[in-house]
Amino acid sequence: MALVVAGGLAAGMARAQSGSQTQFPWMDTSLSPDQRAGLVLKEMTLDEKIRMMHGQGSPFGGPVSPNAWMSNGGDGFSLGVPRLGIPNLQMIGSAYGVRFSAANGRYSTALPANLAQTATWDPGAACAYGALIGREERAQGYNMSLAGGVDLARELRNGRNFEYHGEDPILAGVMVGNRVRCEQEQHILSELKHYAVNDQESGRGIVNSVIDRRALRETDLLAFEIGNQIGRPWAIMCAYNGVNGDYACENKYILDEVLKKEWGFQGFVLSDWGGTHSTVKASAAGLDMEQPDERFYGAAMKKAVLDGKVPMAELDDHVRRILRAEFGSGIIDNPTRKFVVNVDEGFAVARRLAGESMVLLRNEHRLLPLDAGTVKSIAVIGEHADVGMISGGGSAQVDPEGSYAPAWENPAHVWFPTSPLKAIAARAPRARVKFQYGADLPAAAALARNSQVAIVFAHQWTSEAMDLPSLSLPGDQDKLIETVAAANPNTIVVLETGTAVTMPWVNRVSGIVEAWYAGSRGAEAVADVLFGDVNPSARLPITFPVSEADMPHPTMTVPSPEILKEEKAGKKGPLFDVDYSEGLKVGYKWYDAEKKPVLFPFGFGLSYTTYSYSGLSVTRGNGATDALTATFRVKNTGSRAGTEIAEVYASLPAAAGEPPSRLVGWSRVTLKPGETRQVTVAIPAMYLSVFDVAAEKWKLLPGGYILRAGRSSRDLPLQSGLTLP
Ligand code: GLC
Repeated sequence: MALVVAGGLAAGMARAQSGSQTQFPWMDTSLSPDQRAGLVLKEMTLDEKIRMMHGQGSPFGGPVSPNAWMSNGGDGFSLGVPRLGIPNLQMIGSAYGVRFSAANGRYSTALPANLAQTATWDPGAACAYGALIGREERAQGYNMSLAGGVDLARELRNGRNFEYHGEDPILAGVMVGNRVRCEQEQHILSELKHYAVNDQESGRGIVNSVIDRRALRETDLLAFEIGNQIGRPWAIMCAYNGVNGDYACENKYILDEVLKKEWGFQGFVLSDWGGTHSTVKASAAGLDMEQPDERFYGAAMKKAVLDGKVPMAELDDHVRRILRAEFGSGIIDNPTRKFVVNVDEGFAVARRLAGESMVLLRNEHRLLPLDAGTVKSIAVIGEHADVGMISGGGSAQVDPEGSYAPAWENPAHVWFPTSPLKAIAARAPRARVKFQYGADLPAAAALARNSQVAIVFAHQWTSEAMDLPSLSLPGDQDKLIETVAAANPNTIVVLETGTAVTMPWVNRVSGIVEAWYAGSRGAEAVADVLFGDVNPSARLPITFPVSEADMPHPTMTVPSPEILKEEKAGKKGPLFDVDYSEGLKVGYKWYDAEKKPVLFPFGFGLSYTTYSYSGLSVTRGNGATDALTATFRVKNTGSRAGTEIAEVYASLPAAAGEPPSRLVGWSRVTLKPGETRQVTVAIPAMYLSVFDVAAEKWKLLPGGYILRAGRSSRDLPLQSGLTLP
């Protein structure tokens, strides 16, 4: 049977691939994706419809379908309808680069992690990011991307913060939206994930995220709402966790009422891998596709339809959405044809974006940038800093080109073969550059003492399916940094982290650069920043707290042994609650409302030059989309050119009951020394609104609004007020 099916499918596929689809009426590109979907739907059998609504098995184990041979080697695939010219959906994890290249003998560029890309605050950089990954996905034969992670960094210890877009919903939505928009321009069907409130990894399959509806709409869902508006993704992946009682993938409020009805989402909802928990309930709630296999949406779905429990109209809507997405994204009109990418272009983009994402956190007595012409001796200290830089793990993991640093302590810790030691030595050929691993503290101290400058590379590995036990650097790295700093005041720390870290040594070192997971050419980008070839412009997309005790949840809520036993026994979840009682106060909004000092605030980042702000005026916007316009001047008061990210925050009328301040806009402006530029930031009404739960809609309240402009959420020298009617 399998062979017959395969034969039939193969023949159909051959025809589909050969482009002989033109005879089908739905191949008329003058028709809308919806019209084209409707024409195909009419021709499909029940079996073909259902086959389109689930995956064909997972490469990670589990039941293997007789069609597995048709997989392109990605995270999963679902069948099209070859006889009607509808291709298979070949899906691939691609958060910061195309996954599985090693297993498939292909090449993928690893870009800086998504949190790093967010630190650029540069929609243009986000577009370049998505475009490059989209091209490489197509080159490898994929037509659907499993990226676009935009769960908010409510929990700084979340192991997946590196593949998300920070703590602010507007910044996160704008950045992920531009990535998805430009990825889809490469004729890739892309998505946002994990919808929604998948804000910790501990017990992710049985946790129930509890959050009041107003906070849900104004925080986690707002990031998706903006990402959806800008990116127009053709897919949304629903999350493993529950949201206020119902699993996300069978949650009528978020899938149907909000996403499909309120936001008018025209694409399809697919489950996370194993995130489907029912047939009838999930179908009625708005889940359109089960991945990676067919526990609920295969034979069970057919039975539910034949028993009349799933109306045919409902089934047709699921299939129509999948077809609409395939026509709308262009993957039917542009069948994938593998090609070899320009590898050097990938490395150049990776290096440029990494340099633009690194945040200069501290630079005492202007130690940085280093002068390659005069610096005599440099100590490079830190685990693997002679051979590589760390990368984020889990389903986002990109395989490094060539070999990678021995990760004997944990094979999951993948170090990219981009060597800080080599990059620094190459950039300062006249200096004596020596390396110490760092395990031998006296040797590290001795080298630091005998060097003009000591650079410590510290790392914090994070990954899917885990959360951090704390925000401290793992192992004895704090002690190493303190030891080196004690031996040489000209100590610089380069952080390779996936989220915030605490820094007991913060006042004992002269320089700190947050390099994040910097990708295939991270070391070269670090050298670009350290030696001033790149003037840092990045800003923190997450708050760095002084200590975990200051966070909304000083200790994480994780499943108890009893709950894990219930899970093993197969009890239907969700099985335990995480109560996000801080509600609206995510990230900086929490520390502002609680009047807590922070180590480094949201939006913070130094430059090798300085800027001054003046002349803020606030006027009514055009009323339609822009409620307000903020205009002010920024001057480069230093001696080097630089790019400033001028940030605008708003305080809403007291009656709104909002946290003290929220980011409502920003502008990147490149200035020569002494140059002044007038900056205008248009602020959409939605960014100033509150969500009225009773009316189930956004409201721009009357009253006094205060706008502030400046360099970070805690450095806002300009202030101006305006009353809205
Ligand atoms: C994983 C992740 C999801 C990924 C999918 C396929 O469990 O949660 O982000 O896209 O499964 O690998």
